[in-house]
This record gives sequence, C-alpha cells and structure tokens, in this order.
Amino acid sequence: MCGISRSLKNVPKTSYFITTPIFYVNASPHIGHLYSALIADASARFQKLINPSINILFSTGTDEHGLKVQKAAEANKMSVDKYCDIISNSYRSTFQTFDVGHTSFIRTTSDRHKKCVSRFWDKIRPHMTEGKYTGWYCMADETFLSEDQIERTNDGVRVSKESGRPVEWAEEDNYKFDLRPFKEDLQNWLSDPHRIKPKVFHDILCREVNDLYEISLSRPKSRVDWGVPVPGDSGQTVYVWLDALVNYLTVSGYPDGGFWPPDVHVCGKDILKFHGVFWPIFLIAAGLQLPKRIFVHSHWKVDDEKMSKTKGNVVDPVGAGRAYTESGLRYFLLREGTAHSDGNYSDVKIRRILNSELADTMGNLLNRCCGKAINPHLIYHKSNPEAFMNLSTDPNFRELDQRLNKLADVVAGHYEELNFYKGIDEIVATLQCCNRFFEHNRPWELAKSDDLDKLSSILHVTLETLRMSAITLQPIVPALADRLLNKLNVDNRNWDQIKPNWIDNNEIVNPNCLQNKNIILFKRLIIS
Ligand code: ME8
Ligand code: MG
Repeated sequence: MCGISRSLKNVPKTSYFITTPIFYVNASPHIGHLYSALIADASARFQKLINPSINILFSTGTDEHGLKVQKAAEANKMSVDKYCDIISNSYRSTFQTFDVGHTSFIRTTSDRHKKCVSRFWDKIRPHMTEGKYTGWYCMADETFLSEDQIERTNDGVRVSKESGRPVEWAEEDNYKFDLRPFKEDLQNWLSDPHRIKPKVFHDILCREVNDLYEISLSRPKSRVDWGVPVPGDSGQTVYVWLDALVNYLTVSGYPDGGFWPPDVHVCGKDILKFHGVFWPIFLIAAGLQLPKRIFVHSHWKVDDEKMSKTKGNVVDPVGAGRAYTESGLRYFLLREGTAHSDGNYSDVKIRRILNSELADTMGNLLNRCCGKAINPHLIYHKSNPEAFMNLSTDPNFRELDQRLNKLADVVAGHYEELNFYKGIDEIVATLQCCNRFFEHNRPWELAKSDDLDKLSSILHVTLETLRMSAITLQPIVPALADRLLNKLNVDNRNWDQIKPNWIDNNEIVNPNCLQNKNIILFKRLIIS
C-alpha cells in the first residue's frame, strides 16, 4: 500500500483541484478570508509553475443561506437578494484586487448548485430518518450542539464551549442523520496522517472520531425560509452546512465532472469538524471518493486580540492593500501566517517585515546592481571564468552557491505542503546571503580599479540570485515578481529555470540588458 502511494507521487498530476471555504455573506471580507484564498492561490500558481500543462480547478465563492445571512440582511434593511449580491461582489472584487486567480466562483443561490444539492440529498436520503429533534442550536456557527458541547457563562447565558457563541433551544421536526455507523470508515480515511495537515488538526480529528452523534440535516421552513427546499417536502429546508459543503461537488461538475475528488480543501480551524467529520461521512454515504487532503489553517488575530465587529478591529484587506500595496499584504500574510498556530497582524510588524525584506533586502540588491557607478550600461553581466574561479574561495559565495543549488527543491518541498512561510524563509535567507556577498566584495571599489572581470562576476552572481528569487516568489507575490523579472528582462520564468548558470558555456543566461526604466521594487514604509 505504502509502496503504491509512494510511486504514485512521482507521476505528474494532470489536474489539480483546490478549494477555499465559501464565505458567508453576512459581512464584507476581512484579512482572514483573504488569507484562505491566498493559500489556495499560491498553491494553484505553484502547481501551474512546475507543470504548465496541468488543468487547474481552483474554486471559491459565497455561502448565501442560513439564518445568519437572513438576519444580516434584515439589519441592513435590504432584501436578502440585494444584500447577497452586494457582499458576494465585494468578495469577488477583493479577490481580484489581490490577484487571486480562482477559476470558479460559486454562489450557493445559483440554480446549478441547488440542483446539485437536491441530487446529493436523494443520494444520502436512505441514511436519514424523520423525527423530532430537541437540542441546542448555535446560529453564529450554524450548528446543533449536544448538552456537553455547551456551557453557561458568568451571566448565565448558554454558549457553545468551542466558539463561545450563544445557543438557543430548538424543538422541531427534522430529517436526521446518524454519524455513528460511519465511524470505522472515517477512521480508515484518517489513518493516513497526510490527510489532515498540520498534525495538530489531524490529532484533534482522531479524537473527535470517538464522539460521533446524530445530526439534523434540515430545518423547518418556518424557521429558515430560504435555502434549498428538501426534495419532496416543501415544509423543510436543507441544513445550511450540507448545502454549503456540496458546493465542492457543484464546482467539480458533479455528477459528470472529471475533477472529483479534490486534491486539497483549504479551510480555517473553526470549520474543521464540518470538513473533517461531516463531509467525509456524507461522501461515504453517497458512495463518492473522499478528498485527498484537508489543509487547515489557524486564525489571524489583530494586536493579539480576536478580530470582531464589536471590538471594531476587523482589518479590511482593501484598505490595508492601499497602505502597504497589494503585493505587500500578500507577502505579509503568506510570510507570517503559519497554519499550526494563530498569526498576529499588527501595523508595526507588517511595516518592519516589508521594509526589511522587500525594500532593504530584495529591493536593495536590485538597486545595487543598477547603480550608475558599477553598472552604467545596465548590463546583465556575464561571469568571467577566471575571476569566477577566484570567487569560489569566498565563504559568502560558497554559502550562496549551496543555497541556490538547492533552492528550487527546498522551496518546492515547502510549497507542495502549502507551508509558504517556510519557502519564503529560504528565499529571504538566500537574498540576505547575497547582500553579504556583495558587500564583502566591495564592487564599488572594483569599479574604480581595473579588475572589471571580477566586478562582472559579482554582478552576474547577484543578478542570478535576483532572477532565481523572483521566479520562486511568483506564487507568493505574482505582481511584484513580474515587475522584477521584467526589469531583469527575463523571458523564461518556469520553475526549471531556478538553477544557477555560473559559467556560461555558450549558453547565455540572459542576452538582454536590464530594462532602462527605473523601478522601485518596494517603497520603504514609514514606521511611526
Ligand atoms: O464558515 N483568520 O463561512 P465564514 C483566518 N460559510 N481565517 C479566517 C478568519 C481569521 N481570523 N476568520 C475567518 C463559513 N477565516 C461557511 C463555510 S465551506 C463549505 C462553508 C476564514 O464566512 C477561514 O477560512 O464564517 C474560515 O474557515 C472561514 O474564513 C470562515 O468563513
Ligand atoms: Mg464564521
């Protein structure tokens, strides 16, 4: 079994299907929503880069159903339809602003989705029973909770233990679905530790398998009067989470699409149970294949506090993009966000990181190569074999050479696992090493001496480092990488080009000069 899956790994993929959650339209997008989309975007871009002929399905969209949305529309004194259009469009335009290259944007109010939900309902209907449901419902999380999943706050309010949000008593006739008979199947699926990444979340799910219970898959129409009607029962509406999860099938073209099963579902830790327990069980019940991987990420806090409307600390990505540039915000979120633990967003931190890494490390290296005194004709310098040989005793060059030779593999390993921060870390360390190399060799002095061959070699090494770094950064900051590669006049931007061409054996790395146009790769931000 192990041997088979290992050898399959080496077969190039012909398609790649990655999803983000579909977002509730109860408020405009914030940086957390953008973060999920950026993880999926960077992953899809990376897959395309290593395998240009791959067929990508990258889906995102909006979840337009449930009491939460209904209440938000009422609070905004708008019809639900109009409200959904406005918020759904704000997701679309935010994603566009940040170069999120999804290939599919689904709205659960679309006819094709409703049809898919009805179809899926019929598939799993044999596993349901009709009956009275009595228990607690948490509207904020759109979930039913058992007695031991709730607690009382100091003020006596009953809340969900997990999310801390209030619950209400529900006593209603519903279609019910027992998760317990699927325990073994679920355990089998989870027995592969790579299913759920990172490990902390795999561990949580492995514990949760022992606590399966009966859930309700519908709500009376009198309580939730919009959503997909239960096929054959106009008095009931399909439970919002069943409706929402089925979006992944809808976008795959179910029942005819060729993309199923998904390679990766990206989701936040808040909805782990729905993706890691409910969803695989529904799919097993429907006789469908299960997702290959679920990548769960932790949450962004702001100045160490949970983002919340009541606290008024919700960060609007569009505003932050204006302040730090879209590439800047993309870089920060993917550089500082780690899946296994919460990230902290703060204005001071974002400025420090962007200044130090994009302006002072990468931008500075580019400026150095374009300086009038050392590169007056803006040449993409070739290396002189003899002078180059002399460099090989320089410890900074040796470290740089080592780093660059493994850069493509090391970064690919991290990107493949969606650990973008680790990949970026390697790139930054390489650029820092190159800055040390440059400084140590004092090319500004060489320019005044007659050792122009050495100067050429140093510029060659530095330009090569920039070229390779820019190629590897394409999935993270496509627009910024594009500007840098344009400036360097590099045509071939494929992943297989991430290898140093030190001595150019008639194989000219870049026959072009640098572009004449002055660019500021990243303008330093003021730290107040
Ligand atoms: O749960 N940090 O939608 P939702 C990082 N419609 N990511 C965050 C975040 C934060 N602080 N806050 C939210 C729903 N997210 C359902 C999903 S899927 C079939 C249905 C991201 O609008 C994260 O991905 O509440 C989280 O899981 C998702 O937004 C929840 O979005
Ligand atoms: Mg939520």
